[in-house]
Amino acid sequence: MAHAPIEPPPYFDALLERLAEGDPEATAALGRHVHWGYWSDPDAIPCTGADYAVAAEELCRRVCDAAPVRDGMRVLDVGCGFGGTIASLNERFQNLDMTGVNIDPRQLARAAEMVAPINGNRTAWVEADACALPFADDQFDVVLAVECVFHFPSRATFLAEASRVLKPGGRLALSDFVPSAEGLDALRKHDIGGSETRDSYGAVNILCGEPEYRALAQSVGFIVPAIEDITPHTLPTYKFIRNMAARWQATGADAYVRTTRRLEVSSRVGWLRYMIFNATRS
Ligand SMILES: C[S@@+](CC[C@H](N)C(=O)[O-])C[C@H]1O[C@@H](n2cnc3c(N)ncnc32)[C@H](O)[C@@H]1O
Repeated sequence: MAHAPIEPPPYFDALLERLAEGDPEATAALGRHVHWGYWSDPDAIPCTGADYAVAAEELCRRVCDAAPVRDGMRVLDVGCGFGGTIASLNERFQNLDMTGVNIDPRQLARAAEMVAPINGNRTAWVEADACALPFADDQFDVVLAVECVFHFPSRATFLAEASRVLKPGGRLALSDFVPSAEGLDALRKHDIGGSETRDSYGAVNILCGEPEYRALAQSVGFIVPAIEDITPHTLPTYKFIRNMAARWQATGADAYVRTTRRLEVSSRVGWLRYMIFNATRS
């Protein structure tokens, strides 16, 4: 049966427009990494796009180091955005064979333009769905997925695919939004992730709690030693993103601002947590 094509999240339309116009704040903040930031001080106030970019790089490094990536590995970055994670690895490591996967050819084109391999590294950019990876079994040492699994059509299918393409002993590291036990009911009740979220952030599933996440991963052959909660360190993200979205004045900017506010409140009251997850393929 033919499936409907998967659309990239709508916020990339607005972002690509800002980048094409040369918007300095959008370019500095989101021209490389398109994800939340990590601040050691949860009360930090990021003022400029450059401040935000430093925190986004730190979050990316924390996911890569959770794997951990080492020189000479074969690495798959699923939902690779503009290639920011691969760009970071390219600067930090040698002789990596790195493949970025995305459903959006526009993002892949920017990634190919932005990342010039150095240090004996190699890069490839592949248009594909995270839930149907076009790779043979047992290919990669590391699979990464920075802040994108909540967009995928199915966490279970993605985890099964990641397990299939990893070599035995290979490592999966990702960051994702994971509700607390009390948060699951609250997020459902207040429709966080509902229709307005879909119109701004696109298809989003933030209703997979930690026990379910562990069980899904274990069912497809992963050993899950650690899930790290870094929520407090991501909180400065929200104000920055809300303010930037408000300034964009794109159609639907209000919806972004309201949705980002709801995600922030959910995170501050402990319903929604930002987790770094790592696992070993048995
Ligand atoms: C929040 S962005 C994160 C991008 C990138 N990982 C980064 O850290 O900069 C989410 C990414 O997931 C991608 N994505 C969404 N659904 C996907 C799918 N089914 N398969 C592959 N990529 C997908 C989007 O196009 C987007 O690049």
